[in-house]
Amino acid sequence: MDFSKSQTYFNLARSFAGECQAGMRYQLVAREATKAGLQSLADTLRTIAKNETNHARVFFEALVAHAGSRENIPVEAGYPFHTGTIAESLLFAAEDEKSEHENIYPAFARTAREEGFEDIALKYEQVAKVEENHEIIFRYLYDAVKNGTLYSCEHPVIWICGECGYMHTSKEPWKVCPLCGAKQGEVQLHLPYEGI
Ligand SMILES: [Fe+2]
Ligand SMILES: [Fe+2]
Repeated sequence: MDFSKSQTYFNLARSFAGECQAGMRYQLVAREATKAGLQSLADTLRTIAKNETNHARVFFEALVAHAGSRENIPVEAGYPFHTGTIAESLLFAAEDEKSEHENIYPAFARTAREEGFEDIALKYEQVAKVEENHEIIFRYLYDAVKNGTLYSCEHPVIWICGECGYMHTSKEPWKVCPLCGAKQGEVQLHLPYEGI
């Protein structure tokens, strides 16, 4: 099949655009988290934003590996422009990740496989697994920010100051680090990881 006439060609262009935008949206939420003094949350969001820009790179590279350099690829697709409080933005992000790993990328993987581009199908499946974990993290963060439990745990855990490395085991960390004076927003988060 002529790659530039395949659906996968357009799907890759669309996926590249979508991942670029997801990365940017998460950086915008990170900016709000920084303004709110939630530095560790901002760090987490920037790490996920970096993941998305690397997904964009993977799709870009797959496209040019098959099609070569292209002057212009018209893409018709809708993209989210939702915004709100930090908690609302985290919920939007979770929903976006869900539709990527449950619907969009599995469909794109199927199409790529049907069209004979197995290498691209595998990339879609690998990225979908990452988006599944992103959804888990965003849902956890949404609940924690909404309920004010970002820095509390039902059982004692080790809290680590992101600034100086001070550690203490307790249900809740310090408001001000006893070693370096950093605020609670610098304390490293306890993130869930599943589905691996
Ligand atoms: Fe992604
Ligand atoms: Fe993601």
